[in-house]
Amino acid sequence: MSNLCGIFGCIIREGEAVKLITDGLKRLEYRGYDSTGVAVIDNNQMDIRKDKGRIEEVVRNLRILEMSGKIGLGHTRWATHGAPALENAHPHTDGSESIALIHNGVIENYMELKDELIEKGHVFKSRTDTEVIPHLIEEEMKSDIGIQGSMLRVLRRLRGSYALVVLSTHEPDKMYVARNESPLVLGVSDNGTFCASDVPALLPYTNQVVYLRNGEMAVLDIDGYRLIKISDGSEIERPTTEITWSPEMAEKQGYKHYMLKEIFEQPTSLRDGLRLQENYLNLLTQFLDRGKEVFLVAAGTSFHSCLAGSYLFSKLARLTTFPVVSSEFMERYGSTVGIDSIVLTVSQSGETYDTLKAIDHARMRASTVLGITNTVGSTLTRVSRAYLIQQSGPEIGVAATKTFTSQVLVLAQMALRLAKNRGKLSQDELDELDDKLHYVPDWVEESLKNNDERIQKLAHDHMDKKFFVFLGRGISSATALEGRLKQLEITYVPSLAYPAGESKHGPISIIEEGVTCIFVCPRGETHSHIIGSIMEMKSRGARIISICEEGDDDIKRLSDEVVEMPRGIPEELSPIIYITPLQLFAYHLAILKGLDPDKPRNLAKSVTVP
Ligand code: AGP
Repeated sequence: MSNLCGIFGCIIREGEAVKLITDGLKRLEYRGYDSTGVAVIDNNQMDIRKDKGRIEEVVRNLRILEMSGKIGLGHTRWATHGAPALENAHPHTDGSESIALIHNGVIENYMELKDELIEKGHVFKSRTDTEVIPHLIEEEMKSDIGIQGSMLRVLRRLRGSYALVVLSTHEPDKMYVARNESPLVLGVSDNGTFCASDVPALLPYTNQVVYLRNGEMAVLDIDGYRLIKISDGSEIERPTTEITWSPEMAEKQGYKHYMLKEIFEQPTSLRDGLRLQENYLNLLTQFLDRGKEVFLVAAGTSFHSCLAGSYLFSKLARLTTFPVVSSEFMERYGSTVGIDSIVLTVSQSGETYDTLKAIDHARMRASTVLGITNTVGSTLTRVSRAYLIQQSGPEIGVAATKTFTSQVLVLAQMALRLAKNRGKLSQDELDELDDKLHYVPDWVEESLKNNDERIQKLAHDHMDKKFFVFLGRGISSATALEGRLKQLEITYVPSLAYPAGESKHGPISIIEEGVTCIFVCPRGETHSHIIGSIMEMKSRGARIISICEEGDDDIKRLSDEVVEMPRGIPEELSPIIYITPLQLFAYHLAILKGLDPDKPRNLAKSVTVP
């Protein structure tokens, strides 16, 4: 089973459980969409329906909405063990089909457990690792210790990651859930009790949630939940946490796709990002100030935020930092990171496997781990010495947009604070930059309003292009890399991105007549250099699209097309605004190609597997 699936379960007083389950799964579909399955119990009868395919078609084909019952669970899958196929779809059951189970995670020792069960006469229908769990529970149930006792024994034998939910006709009014590494959240309301892979799926029913932690199990019934420690079976007390996000925030609000909604939400998320908790901003900044060496660790888009952050820390605060992709952290710095190291990790989900592994290693070497995340209660918030919530609001689209701009805004505020603490900038410079920082949301609003139509046309003019090159210098190389990642992950057109100064050291060999080069060219120290880079590509026949400041004639003269950005944006802050035309370019290109920008193939929102 993979760690990228969507899980939803509920026990309710009013209504049909299956309606809430299918709605909940639709909100989780960005986590995986290879197959779908639902199980409900009604009058002590278990009804299970599942198949390969996306939620809409499976719900329609199997008439899932006709299932009845007040208790049930559902699953959307992203395949790792066992191809997308009916037999591998969840829920999986025991031999008597009285126990149904859905799982998110990877059971590493499933083969030896399966062999043991086959010895005892158990018959398996799928090639998944998950199916061993309901059979193990069935085996333990023979010693008459009930589901809770059986699950505790079974969970202590599993190695690997799991978020799982168990439903059984043995105890038709209860649901059992457990977590180790894979995320699982409970929800409680007057109408009942819920569980899901993440908060947005619960928001339409409640904003009172409980985060399950690693090594915990819970028993859910119509009146609430009981938390149990798997290792010793002891009860745990934990009150609910109130979530301030509204259900509407997790809806599309009239936009065709979550990605477009989230792109246009950036002025709001950035205004919220300028109202961060002072004490935490100061705390994280003080840690950075004291560090002998500072690593900026993240994956994907969050890594691009770190890259932009490294320019900000160096330029504003004269702090050298080492940005590194999470999956390379241990190889590259694993043997040198130590007690004097600060490891600042960035992750919108707070659950990315590679980033959490890097944190484990850094903590093992007594380093100070700090975190920037968008998800309250996520694992990253529990394993960090101090963390900041970046206040982007829920991001559903797989392609990260508003979380990138929020992260760079947080890093810019930290760099400015550090510059102040270290006296690296004059008060005038500090005040001017701080003023401009507070102008960022308006610049983004202006850019989105002024450029959306222009970008639609550009995307149309380039929709048949087989290749793109994204280029920038200095901090704009981070913008170019992020723009390219958006285009790549949702349009699937091959492309390159690198610091433009590198062209002559190799990549320029691919430039020929008509190759589209997209340049990020804010005013600033790199402006004269980027002009040289544009001329280099143009002289070899490239078609030049430049994102530059309004009225920038030097760039406009050299470019075939330009996207003009508001005047006065300092180069240091430019990634937050100059990324927006590239987000829109990727979005419109995907639409023109008939692709779904919210659910790009082979990807999922939070990558929690190795
Ligand atoms: C970006 O659009 C992708 N969804 C992906 O690269 C993502 O940024 C990466 O998986 C990191 O996720 P995180 O911020 O939740 O750790």
